[in-house]
Amino acid sequence: MNIQACIFDLDGVIVDTAKYHYKAWRRLANSLGFDFTEAQNEQLKGVSRMESLEIILSIGKKTLDETTKQELATQKNDWYLEYITAMTPDEILPSVPRFLDELKAKNIRIALGSASKNAVLTLEKVNLLDYFEIIIDGTKTTRSKPDPQVFQLGAKGLGITPENCIVFEDAAKGVTAARSAGMYAIGVGNAHDLAHAHAVIPSFEDINFIHVTKLLKETR
Ligand code: BG6
Ligand code: MG
Repeated sequence: MNIQACIFDLDGVIVDTAKYHYKAWRRLANSLGFDFTEAQNEQLKGVSRMESLEIILSIGKKTLDETTKQELATQKNDWYLEYITAMTPDEILPSVPRFLDELKAKNIRIALGSASKNAVLTLEKVNLLDYFEIIIDGTKTTRSKPDPQVFQLGAKGLGITPENCIVFEDAAKGVTAARSAGMYAIGVGNAHDLAHAHAVIPSFEDINFIHVTKLLKETR
């Protein structure tokens, strides 16, 4: 094993924004007269804005025309932006800056692989933008996770081969994307939802790069 790069998902891995996506989608669903659960919300993680809307509408059994769908996606994003513009570095998930500093010190390259079109704004809000050598986000991809495109573009941008990359992901679809790209996948969060990752960590607290590589060697 010769890990040369780490590619991070953003929402739910670097920052605690997964809760804001849920809050904004729930507000939208409620305005349309239905609700959806946190378990159903798992299906939205890692998925693009328009695909998320399609999933929500199918949960609420709503069929709408294209113009209305665009309006609803814009409304959700306006609410989401209200939440994230108020965000501060306090909402960086525990120990993430320490872990990124450790990677830098070890000359491990760092990229972002996110479905969000708000990725750069979010990283700016929490002062983490400078850590990322390459940012592949929803403005640069044509296919959503579980398609591997976002991570393939990240590795290509860094000039590192997939088998030398680790992806950190909180979404089941993101783990599938990383594995399809031929990379190592570390789930961040709930081991039940991320059982197909090479290994799962609850968060970056008390985790260093040596732990991660050790976990990967144990699961091979
Ligand atoms: C992903 C989130 O990171 O970005 C999804 O997990 C979200 O929940 C997607 O729908 C797209 O985000 P945005 O900010 O472009 O609406
Ligand atoms: Mg995520």
